[in-house]
Amino acid sequence: MVSHRVHAHIGTVRQLEIMLVVYEQRSISAAARQLYLTQPSVSMQLAKLADAVGLPLYYSVGKQLRFTEAGQAVVESAREILRCYEYLDLKLADLRGLETGSLQLAVVTTAKYFIPHLIGEFYQQHPQLDIRFRVGNRRQIIERTGEDEDDFYVFSHPPDNPDLELVEFLPNRLLAIAPENHPLAGRRNIPLAEFAGYPFLRREEGSGTRHAIERFLDRQGAELSVRMTIESNEAIKHAVMSGLGVSILSEHTLAFGGSAGLAVLDVQELPINTRWYLGRRQSRPLSPAARRFLDYARTLGNAPLDHGLGLSPPDKG
Ligand code: PGA
Repeated sequence: MVSHRVHAHIGTVRQLEIMLVVYEQRSISAAARQLYLTQPSVSMQLAKLADAVGLPLYYSVGKQLRFTEAGQAVVESAREILRCYEYLDLKLADLRGLETGSLQLAVVTTAKYFIPHLIGEFYQQHPQLDIRFRVGNRRQIIERTGEDEDDFYVFSHPPDNPDLELVEFLPNRLLAIAPENHPLAGRRNIPLAEFAGYPFLRREEGSGTRHAIERFLDRQGAELSVRMTIESNEAIKHAVMSGLGVSILSEHTLAFGGSAGLAVLDVQELPINTRWYLGRRQSRPLSPAARRFLDYARTLGNAPLDHGLGLSPPDKG
């Protein structure tokens, strides 16, 4: 049996939770924002935790937080302890058969344009659920699949992981865009080589969009003249609008009115046709909420998403 005294040396579950967020964010203020706490109360909880442990957990070098060996050990065990709590929660929710509980999704930046609309519909049917989603680029979301914290992941180029069950859903077409007044705007059947002659704005390393474009260029034996690397779809769109260059982005980034000031170009070899996948770790128990969401995602399957785009050139398969 675990004695009360041992427990007193590892702080409360809430403190462990706070420590974990600080560790992940590498910043007290970012952790405070994520936890909806004030910065002093995060620091105070960590001080109490360090007191209980009897060793310092972190120190700062300039603006950076570094974690001591004790801090790392606490983080490692905190992950396991919180996972046990979460699994207990899932089990109990299942036993109660209730529709409460939470649903956590981790989605790639491009999916953030349509996932909220899908969740919106699901949420209307299950308003008691606490739904959270995190956003990162493909590499960051793939890293999260190793952490067992999310019920679902959304990406378009899933990693090769036998524990990941994938539901294929919704097409994801990558389209060439330019400012409205670009010389190629409105022309039909533009050869890729001609498009490639214009300065290109690309996403950062680790982006799934960039990965798809690079694979496409490899297949075509083509090269682009990269002018700039920009870490956000929105910033790329604005840079294109302001005449800095052309780009290739997912059609979802242009949906719901997001294409103002832009022209979709009819490049012969485009669009690049990819798909979205909903992934989940099979080793993670399915909560009732997750089971419903999975069923819901399956019904969506290949159904086209109506997001009022209506400006893309014909799909060439
Ligand atoms: P990303 O997402 O470019 O933001 O990584 C798109 C994808 O994974 O296809």
